[in-house]
Amino acid sequence: NVVAIDGPAGAGKSTVSRLVAEKLGLDVLDTGAMYRCVAWAALFELGDVSDPADVARVAAAARVEQVGTRWIANGVDVTETIRGVEVTAAVSVVAAQPAVRARLVELQRAWLDERGGGVVEGRDIGSVVVPDACLKVYLDAEPTARATRRAREKAGGAEISERDTTAELASLNERDRLDSTRTVSPLVQAPDAVVLDTTVLSIDEVVDAIVDLWRER
Ligand code: CDP
Repeated sequence: NVVAIDGPAGAGKSTVSRLVAEKLGLDVLDTGAMYRCVAWAALFELGDVSDPADVARVAAAARVEQVGTRWIANGVDVTETIRGVEVTAAVSVVAAQPAVRARLVELQRAWLDERGGGVVEGRDIGSVVVPDACLKVYLDAEPTARATRRAREKAGGAEISERDTTAELASLNERDRLDSTRTVSPLVQAPDAVVLDTTVLSIDEVVDAIVDLWRER
């Protein structure tokens, strides 16, 4: 009973996953937030994420928990901090480490076992974490559309300039490059995933499409 939702940064995974989960009465797990928590712990304890062995050690000891809608890392509420520029710039480097992934994939599978299913969003859910998920979605969008969406989210309703979008685009492209080219569990489209593109579909259309696919499964 798993809906796997993968895709690049800014494609709308979090919003879509939350709405799909509400409609299907399932819990939702944002695995990106888990990688962000470990990246935060590494930055907090080490100052930077340049040494793979140090990062692996911090990751092995890190406590990552979700309490309601809050994310707690090593006892600290980091819900807002993990969305900031420092963590965002470090997370793909941390997530490329096999030891970090092994640890978090284990926690993700345990989360699913406890509930007998759920909506899980990330980069490797349909390909690695739950290869037998009954529904796999690959949520995509053109880079400019994704960058504009991210800039709007950050501005929180205020006007955005072309500069904001250009800066977001550079950051998204770099993260996509790292996420797609790493050796362990890169971002890939699972062969049996349904591709939905939020450049042309509205969030509601995507959510309805996923709910329909789930009912037909
Ligand atoms: O929401 P956004 O697309 O910005 O990213 P996220 O889902 O919060 O994920 C942050 C980062 O965590 C990604 O850029 C990946 O480096 C990593 N990640 C991963 O490697 N595997 C996952 N299943 C989820 C996230």
